[in-house]
Parts: sequence; C-alpha cells; structure tokens
Amino acid sequence: MKSLKKVEYLFMSFLFVAGSFFLLSMTTDIQDDWPVPAEYKDMKNPLAGQDDATNIGKTLYKEHCESCHGKEGYGDGSKAGDLDTEMRDFSDAEVQGQTDGDVYYKSFIGRDEMPNYEKKIPSVDERWRIVNYIRTLVE
Ligand code: HEC
Repeated sequence: MKSLKKVEYLFMSFLFVAGSFFLLSMTTDIQDDWPVPAEYKDMKNPLAGQDDATNIGKTLYKEHCESCHGKEGYGDGSKAGDLDTEMRDFSDAEVQGQTDGDVYYKSFIGRDEMPNYEKKIPSVDERWRIVNYIRTLVE
C-alpha cells in the first residue's frame, strides 16, 4: 500500500511537470501574437508592386536588418544567437500572408528585441522600399 502511494506521488509530480511545460508553451504562443493597430494594418503601401530598380530597399535591409534576420530573412543573422526572442522566417507564409501595413508596423515600430526604426529610418519612402524588399524574400 505504501509503495503504491509512492507511485501515485510520482505520477502526480510527473503530471505537474508536464502540465507546467504545457502552460509554458501556451505563453510562448501568446507572446507570438503581435497585435497591429488598425491604422497600421490597413495602411496603403504607396509603392506596392513597384520594382526597386535602384536596390534601395535591399541596401537598407543589408545595413539595418541583416545582422539579425539574415541575408535571406531566415532569422539566421550573425546577431541572432544573442537574442532571446525567436524570429520568424520572412519567407514563411506566416509573414508573407500579413498585410504590408502589418509588416510596416512590426518593422519600424518594433517591440522588445525588435528595435524601433522610426528615428534611424525617418524616410517613409525608404521604409516601404524595405517592406517591398521583404516581399521578395520568398522561397
Ligand atoms: C537586433 C536584432 C534585430 C534587428 C537588427 C532587426 N530585427 Fe526584426 N525582429 C527581431 C526579433 C527578435 C523579432 C521577433 C520579435 C518578437 O516576436 O517579439 C523581429 C521581428 C520582425 C518582424 C516581424 C515578423 C513576424 O511577423 O513575426 C519584422 C517584419 C521585422 N522584424 C523586420 C525587421 C526589419 C525591416 C529590420 C531592419 C530595418 C529589422 N527587423 C531589424 C530582431 C531584429
């Protein structure tokens, strides 16, 4: 009888630990949810569908974004290993399926480890060129 109790106790502990991991994974999911204010979400991209013949978007991406997001946007830049937050792969449907306004908001307003770029990239025209460049990072 006594040993059975021990087994029960172990089982309960196991359930507790497993449950904690489950709850922890739920909180990561909640963090992944990045709400975008409506005024950004529905923003019109004035350069939508425009070819970036001058490569301005690409050059700015290289300068400001590549160190974390990586050359192809996979999230494997040289600084990525120092970050606690996981980055989505830009070529992923989860990113490409978002509106241009969503991408704009996350790129230039940012949150936590994703820096704010409003001061570093003040030109709205240049910002949309970067958004357009991210749109080319599809597999
Ligand atoms: C210091 C590292 C770092 C740099 C530099 C950086 N990012 Fe990020 N970025 C992140 C991290 C970390 C996340 C994930 C943030 C989160 O989910 O809380 C992220 C997320 C994003 C997302 C959201 C993707 C999604 O839907 O989950 C976009 C878009 C983005 N970055 C664009 C950019 C652009 C554009 C630049 C350059 C102007 C840039 N980032 C520069 C670290 C960086």
